[in-house]
Amino acid sequence: MRLALVTGLFGFIPAMAIAQPMGDPEAGEQLYRACATCHEIGEGARNRAGPHLTGIVGRAAGAIEGFRYSSAIGASGLVWDVDMLSRYIEDPQGTMPGTRMAYRGMADSQQRSDLIAYLASFEAEEVAIPFELSPEAAAVLAVAPDMAYGEYLSAECTACHAAGDAGIPKIEGLDPELFVTAMVEYRSGERTHQVMEMVSGRLGDEEIASLAVFFQKAQ
Ligand code: HEC
Ligand code: HEC
Repeated sequence: MRLALVTGLFGFIPAMAIAQPMGDPEAGEQLYRACATCHEIGEGARNRAGPHLTGIVGRAAGAIEGFRYSSAIGASGLVWDVDMLSRYIEDPQGTMPGTRMAYRGMADSQQRSDLIAYLASFEAEEVAIPFELSPEAAAVLAVAPDMAYGEYLSAECTACHAAGDAGIPKIEGLDPELFVTAMVEYRSGERTHQVMEMVSGRLGDEEIASLAVFFQKAQ
C-alpha cells in the first residue's frame, strides 16, 4: 500500500482547494450511471469492481486501502485534479496505459465536466495526500514572501486561472506547500506541462514564494 510507504509530511487539504469543476452536477448524476456498476460514491460507499469514488476530486490516485490497483494507477504518484480526471475518463487506456478499468471512455468534454461536477459534490471531509516536501520546494518556502509583489505578479496567472475552464485548476486557496511543489516541479521539468513549464521558468524563488502566499489568501 503506497500510503504506508510514504514518510515525511502529509498535507491535509480540503478537496475543493485543489480544483473547481465547472459543470452541471445534475446532468452529471445521469452520466454517472456509466460508472455506478463498478464504483459506489457517497456516504458509506464501498469498493466494488472499482474503488469507491467519494472525495475523488483532489484524492491521491490509488489511495484506497484494501483495493488492489494496477501499477498504472497505484504507482502513478498523481493526484486526481479536474484535468487528470477528465483525461482519464476521456480515454482510460490512453491516459494510464495498463489500467484495469474496463471503461471505453467519454468523448464529450461537456459531459466529462458535468460528471466531474457530480463527483466533486461528494466531498471527503479531509483528503490525505501523501506528500513529501522536496529540498527545492522547502528552499522556496524558506524565502520571505512579499504579498504586494505576489499580487503584482498574479496578473499573468489569473488570465488563465480565473477563467473557470474545466481544464485549468483553481489555485486560489491552495496550500502553499502544494503550490510551491507544483511550481518547482514545472520549473525543473519533473512535472510536464508546456505552458506551466514556460511560466515557472521565468520565476525565481522569491517570485514563487510571494505568489504562493498571495494565492493562498486570494479566495
Ligand atoms: C467495468 C468497471 C468500471 C467502470 C464501468 C468504470 N470504472 Fe473506474 N475503475 C475501475 C477499476 C477496476 C479501477 C482501478 C483501475 C486500476 O487499478 O488500474 C478504476 C479506477 C478509477 C479511478 C481511479 C480511482 C483511484 O482511487 O485512484 C477513477 C477516478 C475512476 N475509475 C473513475 C470512473 C468513472 C468516472 C467512471 C464512469 C465514467 C468509471 N470509472 C467507470 C472500474 C470501472
Ligand atoms: C496560459 C494559461 C496559464 C497561465 C498564464 C498560468 N497557468 Fe498555471 N496552469 C495552467 C494549466 C492548464 C494548468 C494544469 C497543468 C497540468 O495539467 O499540470 C496549470 C497548473 C498550475 C498549478 C498546479 C495546480 C495543481 O492543482 O496542481 C499551479 C500552482 C499554477 N498553475 C500556478 C500558476 C501561476 C502562479 C501562474 C502565474 C505566474 C500561472 N499558473 C499561469 C494554465 C496557466
